[in-house]
Amino acid sequence: MDTPRSRRRLTPPLLACLLLLPLLLDGLVVFQTYAVDVEVKDESNVSCLYAKWMLKLSIMYEGTDEYKTSTFMLPDDVSYVGTSCGNKTSGPVLSIEFGEGNSWAIHFTKTKDTYQGVTTFTYNTGDTVLFPDAKKKERVTVSTNFPANPVKLNTAFSCGTEDAVKSDNVTQTFLNVTLQAFLQDGRLSSQQTLCDNDVTMSTSSPVVGEARSAQLVSTAGTPDLNATGPSSPPSPSVPPEEKPGTGSYTVKSGEVTCLLANLGLQLNITQQIPLIINFNPNTTLASGHCGQTTAALQLSDGSKKVDFLFAVRNATSEKFYLKGVDIAIVGSKNATLSATNHSLNYWETTLGNSYLCRKEESIIVIPGYKVNIFDLKIQPFEVEEGQFSAAQECSLDDDTILIPIIVGAALAGLIVIIVTTYLIGRRKTYAGYQTL
Ligand SMILES: *[C@@H]1O[C@H](CO)[C@@H](O)[C@H](O)[C@H]1NC(C)=O
Ligand SMILES: *[C@@H]1O[C@H](CO)[C@@H](O)[C@H](O)[C@H]1NC(C)=O
Ligand SMILES: *[C@@H]1O[C@H](CO)[C@@H](O)[C@H](O)[C@H]1NC(C)=O
Ligand SMILES: *[C@@H]1O[C@H](CO)[C@@H](O)[C@H](O)[C@H]1NC(C)=O
Ligand SMILES: *[C@@H]1O[C@H](CO)[C@@H](O)[C@H](O)[C@H]1NC(C)=O
Ligand SMILES: *[C@@H]1O[C@H](CO)[C@@H](O)[C@H](O)[C@H]1NC(C)=O
Ligand SMILES: *[C@@H]1O[C@H](CO)[C@@H](O)[C@H](O)[C@H]1NC(C)=O
Ligand SMILES: *[C@@H]1O[C@H](CO)[C@@H](O)[C@H](O)[C@H]1NC(C)=O
Ligand SMILES: *[C@@H]1O[C@H](CO)[C@@H](O)[C@H](O)[C@H]1NC(C)=O
Repeated sequence: MDTPRSRRRLTPPLLACLLLLPLLLDGLVVFQTYAVDVEVKDESNVSCLYAKWMLKLSIMYEGTDEYKTSTFMLPDDVSYVGTSCGNKTSGPVLSIEFGEGNSWAIHFTKTKDTYQGVTTFTYNTGDTVLFPDAKKKERVTVSTNFPANPVKLNTAFSCGTEDAVKSDNVTQTFLNVTLQAFLQDGRLSSQQTLCDNDVTMSTSSPVVGEARSAQLVSTAGTPDLNATGPSSPPSPSVPPEEKPGTGSYTVKSGEVTCLLANLGLQLNITQQIPLIINFNPNTTLASGHCGQTTAALQLSDGSKKVDFLFAVRNATSEKFYLKGVDIAIVGSKNATLSATNHSLNYWETTLGNSYLCRKEESIIVIPGYKVNIFDLKIQPFEVEEGQFSAAQECSLDDDTILIPIIVGAALAGLIVIIVTTYLIGRRKTYAGYQTL
């Protein structure tokens, strides 16, 4: 949604390609739409900055007879004057102007291994739409770091929970953030740095998920531009309930493909509040090892990681099975969620075959940590020419067999009842004859 003005100004010195989804101030739509969804490119058309988030600004100001709070999402008629990839001495800048003399910018800097942004928000209490009845007409500038902690270089910062930054009279609440500055080769990294809220929320929050979701909904349902009152406390976003995408992964031993796996992967961590985390096959990397009697597949998507350990049951049984699963999720301050269990017993399959399961399978690693597997086809041993061997299907899949069995059982039951009824009836009749 480039306005002609922003496009004209941006193009000449540093070509910046911007994409902005409209932000509607309708409460329901706001939370399904990103206010900012921007990729900034340099003269050579290489992206240097990826930014996607919703931003709620809440400003306390002095009205004619009382203090007021103006709360609004970044409006959609913004201009990007000053947005650029920076130069040798300064990093990328995303700069937004909106309303009457208000501006919001974030400047990124980096160190040897981290990057961080500094936001500069200038608001004009003379803007009568955003600041009705302001006593003074003045411009005020506040500055804060965002993200609050430096982010590891070549990782994307991701935060699904609300991230509020306060400075003086202003609270900036970021929602659903995906952010990476100093992109390598113009591409968003598959490695993620999660905000601590996302990681610790599931272990330390005293409030149950339902209550928090409801609170989020009520915040979202405030459609008026000048809602008063302080901004609500952080609430986690409603986790994605959708199915994860199915990825195809391979592990090689030297040049030879030795493990094949197709699956969709989702974590369901319910320590205190539910945390559903999907692995995105587009950013998930596979590694592992293959051996005669053990094999491992490690899938990592940013800071989240799942290991699958396979073993051959014993030399004579000719079967392999899933023996272990390890889960680890690391937050920005190294807070870690993890679970390990190496005494599992799933997916038993005769060696030389692959294991196939079209239905969702849920593996309890340890209480509170579940791995949901979708559309699974896997072969950890004896892969020939990089192809799956004949598949053994999981019993869950046997709908086609199960239905006739159920119908058959029902029929058999019915016959037994009929025969019994008949026999009892006959006996009664017989008894009747006897008394005659
Ligand atoms: C955050 O983004 C995800 C997917 O990108 C979406 O499903 C979810 O609804 C968003 N959360 C909010 C609070 O809008
Ligand atoms: C930049 O890349 C986009 C798509 O990736 C392309 O449409 C556009 O023509 C490119 N512009 C220049 C100046 O190379
Ligand atoms: C915060 O707002 C009050 C009321 O408008 C004002 O008196 C005070 O100076 C503001 N603080 C800063 C740091 O701007
Ligand atoms: C680099 O960019 C900054 C801010 O955009 C500007 O002030 C500075 O003069 C630029 N330096 C060079 C060497 O172009
Ligand atoms: C996650 O686990 C909880 C607790 O076992 C369960 O109630 C919920 O349905 C699960 N959700 C998904 C998406 O698997
Ligand atoms: C993965 O990439 C494909 C093609 O680029 C895209 O259609 C799909 O939506 C992406 N999946 C996810 C989960 O981002
Ligand atoms: C191998 O496993 C099979 C079945 O799982 C078992 O009957 C057999 O005793 C085992 N053999 C050895 C040597 O452990
Ligand atoms: C996280 O751990 C890594 C490796 O152990 C360490 O290098 C890094 O400094 C830690 N980061 C923080 C923020 O503690
Ligand atoms: C590991 O999984 C097995 C099989 O599901 C289960 O019996 C065992 O309790 C689990 N171990 C832990 C530590 O939860």
